[in-house]
Order: sequence, then structure tokens, then C-alpha cells
Amino acid sequence: MSTGYAVSGGARGRYEAWTPNRGTEIISDHLAMEGATLPILHAMQEAFGYVPQDAVPLIADALNLSRAEVHGTMTFYHDFRHEPAGKHVVKVCVAEACQAAGGHVTSEKVSKALDCAFGETRPDGQVTLEPIYCLGLCSCAPSAMVDGRLIGRLDDEEIEEIAAECRA
Ligand code: FES
Repeated sequence: MSTGYAVSGGARGRYEAWTPNRGTEIISDHLAMEGATLPILHAMQEAFGYVPQDAVPLIADALNLSRAEVHGTMTFYHDFRHEPAGKHVVKVCVAEACQAAGGHVTSEKVSKALDCAFGETRPDGQVTLEPIYCLGLCSCAPSAMVDGRLIGRLDDEEIEEIAAECRA
């Protein structure tokens, strides 16, 4: 039994396939919000696992922005993916408290166990590995998130469990 523990949530379902109609629907759902760009981008990523390039002109037109402005927002926030995510998304915290708790070594172990470099999706599409800057779980460092499920006190056993989960 691992000493790491899941804090919340469950495995995330599969993402929807991008269609312009679904993209337009998502935009419409958030159009009335103040500062709608970020909520729309988040909703796109939530739905499709990334923000499709074809969504940019739709967002720009709907919000009366230039495509460059929407693209600029997307690239400013590193959280937005430009390519489809893998079946599983693993995020390992690389912020200060986790680094102080051995996060650097942990990050390398996760990357090795998943056979995936940070910022990449494995060629078989099973997993995307990303750095994240604080999951609000500093007291349980080092921390990670697997398919939306928070994991604290990440240890070798937990890393093996994550790797097994990502093989499924
Ligand atoms: S620094 Fe890693 S969870 Fe806060």
C-alpha cells in the first residue's frame, strides 16, 4: 500500500472530438461573462483536451478581438495545450515547496516511469506529462495530479501506481 494518497476527484473521461459547432456552443455559453476569453479557453480545453487552432478565429470573432490577441492569451498562460492531450494527463508540481521536498528527483522518476518527457505526449497517445506550478497541496509535497485527481506525498510506490494507471 502506497503512503501517497489521492486527495480528490476521479479519472477523467475521454475528451470530445473538436467540431466547429461544439466550439461555437461553448463560446455562446460563456459569451456574457466579463473577461470571457479565459473562461472560453478553459472550457475548450476541458471539452477537447486542448484548444484547437480552429477555435481561435471563432473566439476572436465572437469577442470582437483580433486572432493575435486570442493567441497571445493562449500562449501567455502555459496551461493551455495546442495539441490534443494523451488519454491520461499527469501533472507534477515543480514549484518551490515540492522542489524543497525532493520534487526534482520525483519529477525525473515520474518521467522515467511513464517513458515520457515533460511537455510531451507519448507517441502511443497514452499519456501527456506536464509540469504545474503549485497544486495547493504544499503541505503534502511532492504533489501531482493524474487525470484531475490530486495526489500528495508522491513516493516510489505511488509513481508505480500512476504508471500502471497510465498503461490502461
Ligand atoms: S509547491 Fe507543489 S503543491 Fe504547492
